[in-house]
Amino acid sequence: MPQLNKITVLGSGIMGHGIAQISAMNGYQVVLRDIEQRFLDSAMDKIKWSLDKLVEKNKIKKEESEKIYGRIKPIVELKDALIDTDLLIEAVPEDLNLKKKVYSEVDQFAEEKTVYASNTSTLPISEISQLTSRPDRFIGLHFFNPPQLMKLVEVIPGARTEKSIVDLGINLVKSLGKDPVLCNKDVPGFIVNRIFIPLVHEAAYCLESDGKTMTQIDSAVKFKLFLPMGIFELADYTGIDVIHKATFEMYSRDKKVIYPHPMIAQLFSSGKLGKKSGDGFYSYGDKNYERVPLSEEEAKQYDPIRMLSVALNNASWLITNNVCNNEDLELALRLGMGLKKELFEIGKEYGFEKIINTLNQLKKGNESFYTPDPYLVTLSK
Ligand SMILES: NC(=O)c1ccc[n+]([C@@H]2O[C@H](COP(=O)([O-])OP(=O)(O)OC[C@H]3O[C@@H](n4cnc5c(N)ncnc54)[C@H](O)[C@@H]3O)[C@@H](O)[C@H]2O)c1
Repeated sequence: MPQLNKITVLGSGIMGHGIAQISAMNGYQVVLRDIEQRFLDSAMDKIKWSLDKLVEKNKIKKEESEKIYGRIKPIVELKDALIDTDLLIEAVPEDLNLKKKVYSEVDQFAEEKTVYASNTSTLPISEISQLTSRPDRFIGLHFFNPPQLMKLVEVIPGARTEKSIVDLGINLVKSLGKDPVLCNKDVPGFIVNRIFIPLVHEAAYCLESDGKTMTQIDSAVKFKLFLPMGIFELADYTGIDVIHKATFEMYSRDKKVIYPHPMIAQLFSSGKLGKKSGDGFYSYGDKNYERVPLSEEEAKQYDPIRMLSVALNNASWLITNNVCNNEDLELALRLGMGLKKELFEIGKEYGFEKIINTLNQLKKGNESFYTPDPYLVTLSK
């Protein structure tokens, strides 16, 4: 397995600067590359701010924070950014054409030894890797936002990724103090988004048809499905633009994996992007950490069986298709979505038979999306 000393992170935005910071915090030499100096300046300011906070909270010493900061070199010139790099982690915007362009530039300068990794949330790893000079040494490393805090990293081999590169990805993630979950197949949405994104759309169908308020549905999601917040709230927190983009990418790859509700596209086109724009499903004030008030009382007004059934059906699909095993699935949901109880445990308490009946009812609306997965069917017997 190749040794990793130097990492180049391409893109210094939300994800890139965080990945650069945690890599430097764990001893790697890091180059952070963006297309303009001003983006790098802003990224380095954010890293400094975050390291200062860690010093303030006594998590690290001042001298250590200076050393970490000193390990990150911001560089605009791509050729220089790639000198002697062992691993490239690409975190440029989620646009296949842009990524294609970026990899063709990278291929001109990257050294033979450099392994490529992409932080894409939804684009096919196999397809991106085929466009490069090294599909066998290319891997998906899907960090979650914010990378400084989120423990989960989905590790996704493409069709031609060598086993040694999968091991390298897993070891790197562990060396960053994170928990890797292997996503054996390059499927739309990988593991967490394969469950989360369709769930947001399902919540919109529930809102439309069940005659309940958003806070009643969200309260039920929080108190009966054990998510850390409501699903509409989580969508606003993630960003409606992110959800809209992921929906588009997943749906264009496979129509069966998602049943898009028009509400998401409507919110997106009217600029209601969630917390970041002050408006999404909910409206927000100026306060940074404002939370939607949800209560156990309101949770009593709604049975979230439809959402639970869809989440379980998609989770079962991942297991049936050997994308991941049950244990990794639960770990990914706990670390990636903050689920406080095992999904299949919640299913068991509701009763798998009831869940299958719910899906069979829904099947009339969209057969390919709601048909119960064979794994779920076996649990109901
Ligand atoms: N934001 C999230 O919640 C999240 C979570 C997980 C994964 N991702 C994935 O991470 C990737 C980056 O997302 P983001 O939210 O950090 O985007 P972002 O828009 O915040 O940052 C992207 C950065 O890439 C830079 N860039 C553009 N072209 C470049 C090039 N040729 N070379 C180097 N830098 C370039 C931009 O200037 C920008 O600073 C995407 O693939 C996204 O799907 C995002």
